[in-house]
Amino acid sequence: MKHVIDLNDLERAEWDGLLSKTNEIIASPLDFKNACSGRVLASLFYEPSTRTSFSFQAAMLRLGGGVFGFSDPNATSAAKGETLKDTMVMVSGYADVIVMRHPKEGAARAASLYSSCPVINAGDGGHLHPTQTLTDLATITRLRGKIDGAVVGLCGDLKNGRTVHSLVRALSRYKDINLILISPRELAVPPYLRQMLNESSMKFIEVTNLEATLPQLDCLYMTRIQKERFIDPLEYERLKGVYVLTPQKLKIAKSDLLIMHPLPRVDEIHAGVDEDERAKYFVQAETGMYARMALIMYLIGEKGKDFVRERSYNDSRMCKYSNCITAIEGYLPAKSTEGRCAYCDHEI
Ligand code: NCD
Repeated sequence: MKHVIDLNDLERAEWDGLLSKTNEIIASPLDFKNACSGRVLASLFYEPSTRTSFSFQAAMLRLGGGVFGFSDPNATSAAKGETLKDTMVMVSGYADVIVMRHPKEGAARAASLYSSCPVINAGDGGHLHPTQTLTDLATITRLRGKIDGAVVGLCGDLKNGRTVHSLVRALSRYKDINLILISPRELAVPPYLRQMLNESSMKFIEVTNLEATLPQLDCLYMTRIQKERFIDPLEYERLKGVYVLTPQKLKIAKSDLLIMHPLPRVDEIHAGVDEDERAKYFVQAETGMYARMALIMYLIGEKGKDFVRERSYNDSRMCKYSNCITAIEGYLPAKSTEGRCAYCDHEI
């Protein structure tokens, strides 16, 4: 079974294949208009989305396939109390590929246990967002030529931003990356990710000041403060607006800086920056649709690919993290490895 829960489940060569397929599609999109004809994508969004759900739908339609699904779980049987397991068993009988977003961390991996077709994780709580990362890697590769050797600044809510978590993990598989993690102390990367960084050979520093780091960056990845993940609304009020990128601040940045953002933005990038030719976030969003076309084709359009290797789990202690999918779907089997939950990655 081929699932994409975490981009790091795949080999680097597979990423490279997806990135070059993305370039091929961008060069000649109509060549792929029948690549998935007669195939069906199910889009299960248990949490709001505009870009990701639209880009997956547009991707499948451009490949000649069909789409069904929901973007409001309250209008489905989930609201009647149906388990994720039952939904997956049923929907995977109807679809050739399932794209899923869920507010709980580890939900996509849990869902994949019960699906008879590939599951693509379109965001599981504050955990991971692998297709945004594929989008980000495709954008950097296209605009900069390569990812190796880049000085990358990630700025904003690094604690709750799943796009950041996925991207950090992916960058650790490239050469000579210099990572600058820019956040208020309260919104620094989660401990499990810092531990992964310490175990990797990637150079990284954690700082609080955006302006001081700007001149050295090749790529600045701005992110939104993730309001919906705050338990205390007063803390959100205190931290929102902490970083605002303006045309004035950008005067000291490199002339070929890539300014990226997974979108939606709130106020962290001033609208005036949109006129700067270094602003690449809208190109990035468009690239995401083509990257998703490449991924869908790889999973269902071409037969006989052995995509994902299932991890081995040597430990069966249950996760205690309240935002983990295991906290609400009680039948899930306990799975962990090296002291970390196999669903959400938090320490057991
Ligand atoms: C991101 C997400 O949903 O995590 N959006 C997206 O998919 N492009 C970023 C965000 O919501 O801040």
